[in-house]
Amino acid sequence: MNATQNFIQENKDRFLSELVDLLKIPSVSADASYAEHVHKTAESVANHLTIIGLDNVEICKTAGYSVVYAEKIIDATLPTVLVYGHYDVQPADPIDLWTSPPFEPVIKTTAVHPEGAIFARGACDDKGQMFMHVKAMEAMLKTGELPCNVKFMIEGEEEIGSTNLAIFVENNVEKLKADIILISDTGMIANDVPAITTGLRGLSYVEVEVTGPNRDLHSGLYGGCVANPINILTKMIASMHDENNRIAIPGFYDKVVDLTDEERAEMAKAPFSLEKYCEALNLADISGEKGYSTMERGSIRPTLDVNGIWGGYTGEGAKTVIPSKAFAKISMRLVPDQDPHEITQLFTDHFNAIAPGSVRVKVVPHHGGEPVVTPTNSIAYQAASMAYETTFNKKPIPVRSGGSIPIVAMFEKILGLKTILMGFGLDSDAIHSPNEHYGLFNFYKGIETIPHFYKNFADLSK
Ligand code: BES
Ligand code: MN
Ligand code: MN
Repeated sequence: MNATQNFIQENKDRFLSELVDLLKIPSVSADASYAEHVHKTAESVANHLTIIGLDNVEICKTAGYSVVYAEKIIDATLPTVLVYGHYDVQPADPIDLWTSPPFEPVIKTTAVHPEGAIFARGACDDKGQMFMHVKAMEAMLKTGELPCNVKFMIEGEEEIGSTNLAIFVENNVEKLKADIILISDTGMIANDVPAITTGLRGLSYVEVEVTGPNRDLHSGLYGGCVANPINILTKMIASMHDENNRIAIPGFYDKVVDLTDEERAEMAKAPFSLEKYCEALNLADISGEKGYSTMERGSIRPTLDVNGIWGGYTGEGAKTVIPSKAFAKISMRLVPDQDPHEITQLFTDHFNAIAPGSVRVKVVPHHGGEPVVTPTNSIAYQAASMAYETTFNKKPIPVRSGGSIPIVAMFEKILGLKTILMGFGLDSDAIHSPNEHYGLFNFYKGIETIPHFYKNFADLSK
């Protein structure tokens, strides 16, 4: 692997400038007005995969944004790694809170990233992390040190639920045959505390609408006499957590798998400072389900959160009005063995049941995803663990993450494949937030670590 590592060192600056160019294309999948840019990003990714020397590069059309596919089959008897990543990004808003424009990448230093971080939407989630795989592959291909087969599948709809990718996977089971799925779209604990993500939460997402009177009303003439849908909606939402911050939807916890005391004790060994956590978020105190630590609340326990709420008058000054409607978007993060469809149904039934007769309610489900837990006793885990040990001089800690990558459960269901989550981001990298960034240390460490995974995985598979 020496030639590979030398190649990486010699080409560092070019790798970074190529990433900068990729980050300049605003591939926002959620907003149709960016469609042209999303398509251009797929072309750019395909171009990169061609230039580095992969074969059969294809921009596969779907009902939505394309899936970019490529492969290098060096020997059919060797194992195959299937790399997944996404080239789409979250919307950049609120734009005013960015200290530099989201699609004009710049390198700035931060307390956590003294050697610099690249600031741009998608820098960490997931263009920067996906691109590490492209560059690590380039290094292995150019030096003739790729030790096994590889397939790349980079999609453009992860941030909007991967619905079309699931269909693509179903229709291409043979093409996607592999031994393991490799993803960098998660994080580590700190730059000196590497971690391997061993679980992702699932997701159920609904939009609710509460309707009172058939039109907005004068709050003096009608106030006190008719139901105010905002008052009602906020009360309904407030009732969904009990005094211990447990979710009050009947049946919600029925299928939750509790961790054993040993597992919880193991989890508690990961370094965590409540003081630093609060300081980073400018919080006086934390909040969450009684009986669980912050780390547990954010990974092995399910949640219910309002993501947005609106209705009535929110413009300048005061308008005395009782609104006709109130709305909210609500997400529930799920853990094994909760089923997103079942949870959406439980929510809907409960929401209807607690609505007073003075209003009408509607629940519209959005995309969801199943939770996953990945094994720590597999060849892939061992290969990844050894790879981190080589480049960080430290054994990585297995950590269950609170985020979701819905396609991972589908990979297991449709392809029968396990996933290894080798993420290099940090929680402080502000993914989905203004000023998203990705450390140069992390970008380069990822590129250096990935080839070791391939080597270890090929060796251990023998
Ligand atoms: N890469 C993230 C998920 C993630 C981030 C997992 C950090 C673990 C650690 C992914 O792009 C994402 O944002 N997923 C969405 C789900 C999707 C259905 C919109 C999420 O978790 O909200
Ligand atoms: Mn992502
Ligand atoms: Mn994301």
